[in-house]
Amino acid sequence: MKKNTIDLQEKLQELLLAERNNYLQGKVADYIPALANVKPDLMGISVATIDGKIAGAGDYQQPFSIQSISKVFGLVMAMNRIGDPLWQRVRMEPSGQPFNSIIQLEWEKGIPRNPVINAGAILISDVLTSHFSASKLAFLTFVRKLAGNDNIHVDNQVYLSELKHGNLNAALAYLMKSFGNIEAEVPDVLSHYFTQCSIVMSCQQLATSLLFLANKGIDPRSQKRICSARDAHKVNAILSTSGMYDQSGEFAFSVGLPAKSGVGGGVIAVVPGYGVICTWSPPLNSFGNSTVGMNLMANITEELALSIY
Ligand code: DON
Repeated sequence: MKKNTIDLQEKLQELLLAERNNYLQGKVADYIPALANVKPDLMGISVATIDGKIAGAGDYQQPFSIQSISKVFGLVMAMNRIGDPLWQRVRMEPSGQPFNSIIQLEWEKGIPRNPVINAGAILISDVLTSHFSASKLAFLTFVRKLAGNDNIHVDNQVYLSELKHGNLNAALAYLMKSFGNIEAEVPDVLSHYFTQCSIVMSCQQLATSLLFLANKGIDPRSQKRICSARDAHKVNAILSTSGMYDQSGEFAFSVGLPAKSGVGGGVIAVVPGYGVICTWSPPLNSFGNSTVGMNLMANITEELALSIY
């Protein structure tokens, strides 16, 4: 198999080099100054495999704002905490709408299409806020354990600007509350949501901490079960159909892996039975997905023949 014979480190360097000028095609997220000020030409890629290999190139050890990639950790925590009743409050269908769209939510009576669009992630934040006495700390502890690093933290500057510019997210939360689908107080739910979005991690930390999704719910390093095999399957299914928002179809077409992006420019992709890839380059395309990140994912998947389809 190609993925077992190639020199991974060398391949990552080569793929990154080929992309070095393509960041100019995207635009760094500018809805908050803390993200707008990130250097656009930073880029990194890391691959972690379930048999213990870690490879990386470029700025793969530099922490960045994980933003919507945090929705993956939140979903796993909520599934672990309340089980199947979760699926009565949020669905598992692609939305076909931008990640922060509010239109569908009223038609569909406050039930978000899936847990990785903003409405769905705010719903998940409500589950966590309502079921943990200190949900932000529980979240950070969960991520720190998975990454094996107690220094992972929240960027307070990003958190405060998210809060200040969070009117649309607040509207989504209040709309769901009006339909009876939010239990806790909206400001508490939003505070949790913005906290998890403001966590900073590197490509290498993200790739290693999500390895359990490539290994039927078991962290291959500690052999600890993080979620059931069935739930790992469900998370990967949702990431396949919705993780790249209204570009998920194109991503399946060109890459063919469960994946999740964030407006900080990170993208993670799960290769079941093999490992996790994380790419980072801040400039985004019009769907809010990293331009170079998308290219890198497509190229590495082709080079190593990793597509699941
Ligand atoms: O809620 C927001 O708008 C941001 N904090 C996170 C959105 C995000 O990362 C969407 N992903 N591409």
